This record gives sequence, structure tokens and C-alpha cells, in this order.
Amino acid sequence: MTNKTHTEERTEATEAQIAVHWKEEQYFQPSKAFIEQANMRDPDIRKKFGEDNFPDCFKEYADMLTWSTPYSTVLDTNNPPFWKWFTGGKLNACFNCVDRHLAQYRNKAAFIFVGELEEDPPVALTYQELYVRVNEMAALLRDFCGLKAGDRVTLHLPMTLDLPITMLACARLGVIHSQVFGGFSGQSCGSRIQDSGSRILISADAYWRSGKLIDHKVNADIAVKTAKEMGQEVDKVLIWQRYPGKYSSPAPMVEGRDFFVNDVLERYKGKRVEPVSMDAEAPLFLMYSSGTTGKPKGCQHRTGGYLAYVAGTSKYIQDIHPTDTYWCMADIGWITGHSYIVYGPLLLAATSVVYEGTPTYPDVRRPWRIAERLGVNIFHTSPTAVRALRRQGPEEPRKCNYHFKHMTTVGEPIEPSAWRWYYEEVGKGEAVIVDTWWQTENGGFLCSTVPALDAMKPGSAGPALPGIYPVIYDDDDKEVPKGSGQAGNMCIRNPWPGIMQTIWGNDQRFVDTYYKRYCKNPKSKDWRDWPYMSGDGAMQAEDGYFRILGRLDDVINVSGHRLGTKEVESACLTVPEVAEAAVVPVMDEIKGRVPDVYVSLTPGAENSDDIAKRVVKACEDMIGKIARPRQVFIVPDMPKTRSGKIMRRVLGAISNGRDVGDVTTLANAAVVDEIRTMVQGKQAASGEGQPKQ
Ligand code: WT7
Repeated sequence: MTNKTHTEERTEATEAQIAVHWKEEQYFQPSKAFIEQANMRDPDIRKKFGEDNFPDCFKEYADMLTWSTPYSTVLDTNNPPFWKWFTGGKLNACFNCVDRHLAQYRNKAAFIFVGELEEDPPVALTYQELYVRVNEMAALLRDFCGLKAGDRVTLHLPMTLDLPITMLACARLGVIHSQVFGGFSGQSCGSRIQDSGSRILISADAYWRSGKLIDHKVNADIAVKTAKEMGQEVDKVLIWQRYPGKYSSPAPMVEGRDFFVNDVLERYKGKRVEPVSMDAEAPLFLMYSSGTTGKPKGCQHRTGGYLAYVAGTSKYIQDIHPTDTYWCMADIGWITGHSYIVYGPLLLAATSVVYEGTPTYPDVRRPWRIAERLGVNIFHTSPTAVRALRRQGPEEPRKCNYHFKHMTTVGEPIEPSAWRWYYEEVGKGEAVIVDTWWQTENGGFLCSTVPALDAMKPGSAGPALPGIYPVIYDDDDKEVPKGSGQAGNMCIRNPWPGIMQTIWGNDQRFVDTYYKRYCKNPKSKDWRDWPYMSGDGAMQAEDGYFRILGRLDDVINVSGHRLGTKEVESACLTVPEVAEAAVVPVMDEIKGRVPDVYVSLTPGAENSDDIAKRVVKACEDMIGKIARPRQVFIVPDMPKTRSGKIMRRVLGAISNGRDVGDVTTLANAAVVDEIRTMVQGKQAASGEGQPKQ
């Protein structure tokens, strides 16, 4: 490949250019077989969930739950934008996911666990068995840990059934769980323990990943230490064992602080714990997500509205029936897993598959073997996984005898060619696809086709869900009309039951981040004056379908998960020689985006490979492997405005092989050429291979 084509290929993919250059794709229709069995076949559904029936339309979702006390008000808008849903109502999340299914589905599998090692057979956990395990764990949390409704507990668990069991045990007591993605570092976990004020950490000794038994207990020790340094004491650390009765970590257990869950559970064998009836507005869980500042936000999700929204969307968009075997390949440590591995499928009494390992272990056919063996008929994954499975094994799916009726993609924009492979090869031309757009803050899907009703269009998330009224604003607060070919800020005009309540402990940041920018009247109690700002760029085609273009703020979407540039930069700055750090997103064929790091050194520091290595390590240690930079460039100086602001835009252009634009007004324009030479090589810097403008 010549340098020129290489540069052009990379250039082609800037967000704005994707928007302009992606041609309108042809529609794909759902099959007759799918339509006939679909949960939602009412062509008037969007009208029924239209503005004339708002907010009462959402009663339909609330009615999918079992309430111990019925709600009196659907939506309370007295204190915008702190909406309240289904007030007056009481319910228990665990009861709704487990107890109420026992009469009909006692001996049906709630979960099927698939360990990474293929020689270990899948393990099914029935609703009855889940009920028993969750009760025993709830007894332990209440009586051994002293936890009660409203307390927070941090979970740092890998993908085994211990995770949903622990979540549901918390929910049974009204304890707010805060699960930190297992792949995050001990330090990330520690800062979340501190922010949420947890006195209990629930972790694990080890888990399988890419054929290795990874030591995880070590992270618990780091987490407790980090939290303590930040001012939060942890009283007890509970350790689930990957192999009950056997300890699989070299890290010592701390006497009086650390306990093996399996040992302590012995005391609670056969115990039953009454589910605690919680207010609809009681927080159910926290899920931390990156923002534009260094500090992750604890997205606080409510009990009633959240559960209603995930039940409704699991039923109508995921098309889950109790007879389905559903596999979402995400990690439960992300919101996708909370909503669409645990709460949504269980609320509908489905069978949900939990897979421990990497999709490509021991080989790239693994997911399709799992699907065949378990009879999975609904499959849910990310564009990153689709790209990786396609690249490594484009013809593997046809070698396995499974049949999906429905497939989901989530987390990033999916390019039409990857979409078509997903449809034709993975779905064998039989399955519908929903491209679901939403965020950690949102609780559940916001844009997607309704699978039996709307045609699919590759690369477009589709129209808004029933009951969701989006609007795209430009920077001057004007609405960007559909079909205009213009992109703008994707906003939602109305509240919906799945929206987070607030940022844990920081109401002001909640208002500032999502509502301040487009609020029409801060004194108004009318929801119409309070559009929610998503932070994504989007455009709407003539047919009403939305195409999401990516983040407009300082957030990098790596494999469908958000990293704050500031978060990564703060990690880089912990290396003593680093004076300044700038992190920019760079296009990646598989992961969508990955971070590139630029650092300048303190006076007197010697430029060395070792510094770059320590920068990489700092990112991995402080955040996790997901934050691993593609490259670290040690530059003589950062490109800066005259007022001293680092021009990340210029660095981003260089990393992506794009034209840097006009840099003459910079305080140090000469350094731009120097950096470009360093990053792109001499040819690019001399003009050859630059994109045509
Ligand atoms: C960001 C949210 C909750 C889903 C998992 C990620 C991007 C999400 C899509 C999609 C294009 C998408 C957005 C969003 N995104 N889904 N179908 N098409 N982009 O949750 O970590 O909170 O990230 O992911 O940029 O803002 P998250």
C-alpha cells in the first residue's frame, strides 16, 4: 500500500465526512416468520406513545412490573430536571426478576453460565436455584455485613454468575449496588468506592481471560488502599472464588478484613430474606461513566422507572419471550449488561447467557459454537466485536448450526459493510437487526427500529423509540431539520422512565452536563423547556432515521465504551517527567477509536523510551487496559494558542492523517510541522500524501 492511499483511507473516516459520504443505504425488511411471532406488531405504537398520550403511555411499561403498592402519579415534574416516575408506588427489583416467576418457571434456566475454558460444560441456574442463592447472599449482606436499604456497596466482579447473584441480593435489600467493570484497574475501583461511600467491597480471586487465569484479588487490595488514601475506609472485602473452596490468587487474604463468600455463606444455608419494598424513586444502582472532566460520574438509576423502561424495551425492541435463549455478549459491568443481560431478560423470565471470556478464545468460531450448543436465538453485541469476528473469521458462522431470529448492535456507529456481514453471515439472512443508540445515563434504548414494524437501514440507528421525542440542535440553538444533510447536537425533548436520577452526590453537575446548554427557561416546571443533551453528534435523514456520528465533547469511544480524555491525561501526568499531556482519539479499524497520547517533558528530563513505557503503564494502572494508548509521542512542545491552551484539534488531525488547517495564529506554529514529521514521517510532512481538500 502506498503512503498516499493509506493516508486517504484514514482521512475518509472523519465524523463529518462519514456523515456526508455515507450514501443512503437500501432498506432491509424483517421476515414474515419474525413478524408473526413478534411482541410488538401494532403499527400505531408510536402514535400511542406520542406526545398527546405522554406521560401516561409509559403506564404500559410500568404494568409489566409487579408493584407491592400501586403508583399514584406517572410523572412528577415539580423539580426539573429531577423528574420523578411512578411516585407513590413501591416494588422490589429482585422480587420482580426472580420470585414472581417461580410459580410458572421454577425449573427453567434463568442464566446459563459459559466459562472460558471450553472443556468446562455450561452451567444452567434455574429460577428456583437463583432464588435460593440470592436469598442466602442477601442474608449474608444483611447479617454479616450489616447492610441495609440505601447503603452503597461496590462490586468489582468478573463475568460469572456471582455477579448477577450479588446484584440481585443487593436489590432484594434495597442496597444500592455499584458494579465497577472487572477490567478496570484497582485504582479506578478505589476512586469509585470513595465517591459512592461504600464500606463493603465485593470482589473475586480470579477469572479466565484469553486462556489465562487472571489474578483479580490483587485489585481488591489496591482498591481498598486507594479508597483509604482518598478518605474512605473499607470494613470488609468479600471474595468470591472462581472455584469454590479453592483460592486461585497469590495475594494474601487480610485477616479480619477479607472473607471468602463461599465460607461465610455456609452460615446462611437455606435462609430466606423478605424482599424489601422500595419506593419507585429509591436508587437501584450506580454506574460510573466517563465525562469531560477527570472524575467519572456515578449515574444514579431509580428502581421503578428504570425497571419499567428495561422491561418495555426488552419486550418490544429485543423481542424477548420467556421461551427465548438470549445472549448479550457485553460485560455486566457496563450498563448494557445491567439492562440487557440481567434486569431486562429476567423481568421477562427469559434465559440469559453469561459468557466469561473473550469471544475469540480459543478460536474465532467460539461464539457460534456457543450459540449452536445452547440454542441461542437472540444475539446482542457491539460493532467492535462484529469487526473483529469478521476480520478473523468471515466464514465461521456458516459452519455452526444455530439460528438467530434477532440481533442487536450497540455502543458505536456500525459501518454499512460490517452491518451487512452481520446480517448475511452471522444472521444468515434470517435475523432482524436492531441498531440501538443510547448511553449509560439513559437506562435503556433511545433510538432503534421496532423490529417487526420498521425496515432496517445499515448504519442508521433508526427512528426514536416509542415515547422518545428527539431533536437535533445546532450551536445557535436552532433545530436542524430532517433531510437537511446537516449534523448537530442530538437531544431528547422529553423525560422518559429510564433516564438517570442524578449524578451521585452532584446534582449541579447533572444539571450542568445534560440540561444547562439547551434549557429554555430555568424557572419552568414544564418538561418541554428542558431538553436532555446527549453529547453526541447526529443527523436525521428524510425518512426520520437517525445516524449517530460520535461524541462532540472530550470523550473517546473505545470499543463502544467511554473514556474521558482528561481522565487519561491525568494518568499520564502521574509520570514525574511529564509536564503536559494531551490525549486525542485516533481511528482504529477494529475498536472504532483508540487514544493517542502526546506528552511534553519537564525541563531537564531526558527523552527516553522508558518514559513512554511508564506513560502506557500509568494509563493501564490507573484506568485499565481499555485506556492503553496506541502510541505515546514525546514532543518538544505542545501546539498552543496565544493564551496557552493546548490545541488538541491540531494533534487529533495529525494522528488521523488529516490536514491541520490554519495554524498561523498559534503561539508556536513551527512545532506543528515538527510533530507532524515525527508522527506521519517525512513524506507526509513535505506535503505528499496529504488529503485533497
Ligand atoms: C455512547 C454511550 C449504552 C450503550 C453502551 C455504551 C455511543 C452508543 C450507539 C449506536 C452509534 C452509539 C454514543 C453514546 N453509542 N450506541 N447504536 N450508534 N453510537 O454506553 O459507554 O455510555 O457510551 O456510545 O456516542 O454517547 P456508554
